[in-house]
Amino acid sequence: MGAFEIAVMGGDGIGPEVTAEAVRALRAVGKRFGHTFTLHERHVGQAAVDVEGAAISEETMALCQRMDAVLFGAVGGTGVGDPHSRTEPMYSLFRLRKDLELFANVRPVRPLPALLGSSTLKRATLRGVDLLVVRELTGGLYYGQPSEIREEPTGLSAVDTMAYTEGEIERIVRYAFELARDRRKQLTSVDKANVLSCSRLWRRVADRVHADYPDVTLRHMLVDACSMALIRNPREFDVVVTENMFGDILTDEASMLTGSLGMLPSASLGARRTRHGQFGLFEPIHGSAPDIAGQGKANPLAAILTTALLLRYSLGLKRAASTVERAVRQVVAAGRRTADIASPGETAISTRAMGDAVVASILSE
Ligand code: IPM
Ligand code: MG
Repeated sequence: MGAFEIAVMGGDGIGPEVTAEAVRALRAVGKRFGHTFTLHERHVGQAAVDVEGAAISEETMALCQRMDAVLFGAVGGTGVGDPHSRTEPMYSLFRLRKDLELFANVRPVRPLPALLGSSTLKRATLRGVDLLVVRELTGGLYYGQPSEIREEPTGLSAVDTMAYTEGEIERIVRYAFELARDRRKQLTSVDKANVLSCSRLWRRVADRVHADYPDVTLRHMLVDACSMALIRNPREFDVVVTENMFGDILTDEASMLTGSLGMLPSASLGARRTRHGQFGLFEPIHGSAPDIAGQGKANPLAAILTTALLLRYSLGLKRAASTVERAVRQVVAAGRRTADIASPGETAISTRAMGDAVVASILSE
């Protein structure tokens, strides 16, 4: 019977709707296993700009430093402002990732058997796929300076900077080796070493760290080849480790193996240890989807699966985590579908109804 402190930030668009269902799943787990989850709800993103004047307040940042974990929905709308400006919704995510040192973004991709038909890919290609993308989250193009649009005598120009230190590469690669060691022991390190200096350093560090993990097979793959292999034969992957931007792009691609972006959870894990595990921020990989916000159409399963990762990684509650994952598998196997995963002829249910089904399944086991 544990007692845990969790910050909850629904954010913008469909964020609050799907997070509400994730919270209900968490409460059901608490009831079922006798755990106490103390939830601290805070504004983030545009919602926080409107109320507090910045996309994330200093008070909220300080709160996160004391929490066991952060449950996060989504931020942003349709705009594309500078994410380093305090009044841009995306600033909150960048600030949380950097200040909380959430360097390892773990994105598991495991298509549910009942949803193989929802993907645009063939069933035979998808059957048995179980891969984990480990994306570096606090370096590379997202944070490198300079990054700006400049006015020059000859017209406008723009610059972004990809930069990595050996230490940054080593800690993410090492983390990926650790995860691979507990799985099928195959690590694919993805880079663009035929073009980028960062990638050549990345390869060198990965080879060096490999010496500490002789039981794990390491292969290097160029990112363009990887994007092809991911849909040609996704079963050939176990753990994939890559830098920030490549990981962003490859995980949207990989999400299509599960049938919908609405099915993929992610864990952003930090350097800080909590009493129970590793501090982390947990969010669905889908964004705020403003076009369907407030209509009860969003798929809450990615957000709900996110709580399973939270229970496992930050709270050390493996059984509770498996219970949530089993509940999701069960409701999907029983034919429950939100619009994004409904095939023609199948009835789509609402965000809330999907949450109800998962809660019932958690409590009924
Ligand atoms: C993700 C998202 C973010 C990213 C955006 C919202 C800044 O696409 O988490 O994959 O690029 O990291
Ligand atoms: Mg992305």
